Amino acid sequence: MPCDQAEQDRLAIQHQVFVSALKGKLTTTRVTNATRRILDLGTGPGNWAVAAAQQWPHAEVVGVDMAVWDLETTEAEPGGGRVTWELDDLDVWGEESDIEILTARLDRSGFFGEVNEAYRAESSSRSNAKGSPSQSQTPLTSEGDSSYNPYVLQQEFQPGWHFSEPFDLIHVRNMKGTFASWEEVYTEIYNNLTPGGWVEVADYECVLPEMLHSNQIPGEMRLENYRQRDAHDFVVPTMRKLYLAMMEGSFRSGRPLGTYYLHPTYLEDAGFKDVKTTYVNVPVGQWPEDEEQRRVGKLFLVALMECLEAHLLRLMTRHGDSSGIWTVQQVKEQVEQAQKELLEYNEQGSRQKMKEGWCANFKWVSGRKSKNAPL
Ligand SMILES: C[S@@+](CC[C@H](N)C(=O)[O-])C[C@H]1O[C@@H](n2cnc3c(N)ncnc32)[C@H](O)[C@@H]1O
Repeated sequence: MPCDQAEQDRLAIQHQVFVSALKGKLTTTRVTNATRRILDLGTGPGNWAVAAAQQWPHAEVVGVDMAVWDLETTEAEPGGGRVTWELDDLDVWGEESDIEILTARLDRSGFFGEVNEAYRAESSSRSNAKGSPSQSQTPLTSEGDSSYNPYVLQQEFQPGWHFSEPFDLIHVRNMKGTFASWEEVYTEIYNNLTPGGWVEVADYECVLPEMLHSNQIPGEMRLENYRQRDAHDFVVPTMRKLYLAMMEGSFRSGRPLGTYYLHPTYLEDAGFKDVKTTYVNVPVGQWPEDEEQRRVGKLFLVALMECLEAHLLRLMTRHGDSSGIWTVQQVKEQVEQAQKELLEYNEQGSRQKMKEGWCANFKWVSGRKSKNAPL
């Protein structure tokens, strides 16, 4: 995903949608005076973190992200609170690209044999520790670095996250397609919570309009169901094409999109108790009769139109789908076409003012670490 101004604007709009869906609330969990430390994981430009810091000024709110965002703009929000920002990659189990860098470095330095093997064996463990919060790292040197000395011992990385203190609430929102191993992420979340602390994970699924009339449960759609239908069954056919391509590309990338990671069993398996799911349907577009719903639907439509290129550009030009790797121009043309279809669809809906129409399925899942759990 990009981290430019357009994406920052989109995430700010999406933040408003999430909050409106919860009728102005920031969370489905209970934040009390005993909630001292709050972590917003993958905070992006920090809209949630800044709002949380304002709402709960007694708590220290930490926002972590691997990308650099224009945080001053977010902090300048009227009434926004102060947040401690940390820049870190929390995916310590992702692609093991450092092995290749390491091997290339060893090859360049002309260093073969035992040590090379030993390094490989050590690095190939799952805990390749690409990054570790609040721990200074010796970065793996990049291509062309001639100062690398394979005889000098490097700091040994420990697997997992290393925050200096645990949190009372860890908030994760809008992170589908981010991690390859959600099981490991939930284990880290659990380990970095105080006994009695809460996790909350929120995201949405935008099922295409026609599917709403099928027998399936919204949010539980399968790709085959989309494939089996003809393109003309869909009022937004290019959206359907892009949806399929995006899902396929994300599987190819090893980081599948979709809200499967909000399934309560992920939290239960990680050891969380009192796992609870909250569902809210958010209108897509201005079809609702109700004024407030129309406002939220319009916001979501804008966010949806803007998310297409953000999601697809890198995915399709790098990983592609069964038709191959897409060009930048192909992606841009298809996105433009899908946006036109969405606008036309919205025009029709807003003229009719309906009671029921196309909705995105928003979900919040929360769980509690047992008070008796060891720290
Ligand atoms: C779609 S944005 C969501 C931002 C924010 N949670 C929200 O709801 O507005 C996903 C964010 O996750 C961050 N991210 C992705 N992978 C990450 C990683 N491995 N470690 C830390 N942050 C990551 C991205 O940089 C991006 O800011």
